[in-house]
Amino acid sequence: MKIYNNIEQLREAIKNAERPIGLVPTMGFLHQGHLALINQAKKYNKTVIVTIFVNPTQFGPNEDYEKYPRDIDHDINLLKSLETNFVFIPERESLYTENHNTWVNVEKLDEKLEGHFRPNHFKGVATIVLKLLNITTPDNAYFGQKDAQQVQIIKQMVADLNLSIKINSIPTVREYDGLALSSRNVYLTKDERKSAKEIYQSLLLAQTLFEKGINNAEIIKKNVSDHIIKNIKNSKIDYVSITQESSLEDLQTIKDSALLSIAVHVGKTRLIDNLILSKK
Ligand code: PAF
Repeated sequence: MKIYNNIEQLREAIKNAERPIGLVPTMGFLHQGHLALINQAKKYNKTVIVTIFVNPTQFGPNEDYEKYPRDIDHDINLLKSLETNFVFIPERESLYTENHNTWVNVEKLDEKLEGHFRPNHFKGVATIVLKLLNITTPDNAYFGQKDAQQVQIIKQMVADLNLSIKINSIPTVREYDGLALSSRNVYLTKDERKSAKEIYQSLLLAQTLFEKGINNAEIIKKNVSDHIIKNIKNSKIDYVSITQESSLEDLQTIKDSALLSIAVHVGKTRLIDNLILSKK
């Protein structure tokens, strides 16, 4: 496994790498969810590149950029054990020079769901992902379905900008009790961690209601919100939303399938999760 901090040195190494190349962009503090992405990348590519970069431009001024969990030694050991080919750990200054003035806005999609609560978040995400795609020139890139809106935004960017890269979305990996894996789960206190499993339970409740024939989005959303408020102490819901999966347009009535997305504060920690509602 080769580790690079320098963009030009990485580019030089990639010139001789065997294709297809699979890219797994991460912000580090790697967990089983990242491992699932890396394993998928290994399965379908001759060369796997993992990037570790806590991207400052996707954090709002009052968000957790400074305290975002980091453990680079743990990450490197894990990536070694997975026989990752290249790891790219750039410095902030090399990706964002003083006169960096170009941003990627994926319009419309970036206003929905997370966009209401995290203005400029997706501008930061799309910009850094495009930069990483340009530097690593992969054939495939891998993202977790837990960030469903991020996946759609990146797919839209790749299509709109005619990039010849396949964006692969990998199912959410969950803890034994259903909590979606996230680096931010470490912020939860013991009690909060216990009750956070109810987020997934609320998604399953929605799926059960849909299977029973309830297709009115408002009714399902109300049941999900009630479940969360009742079962998670100190919770504050940002949104429970039912949308079409790729356009993220709100649905009133669910036909065959829909994306159910949730953002909820559990104490001081903001968590997101989602499920595709579908007839089994
Ligand atoms: O999903 C993430 O970890 C980040 O948003 C990403 C894609 C690595 C961009 O910083």
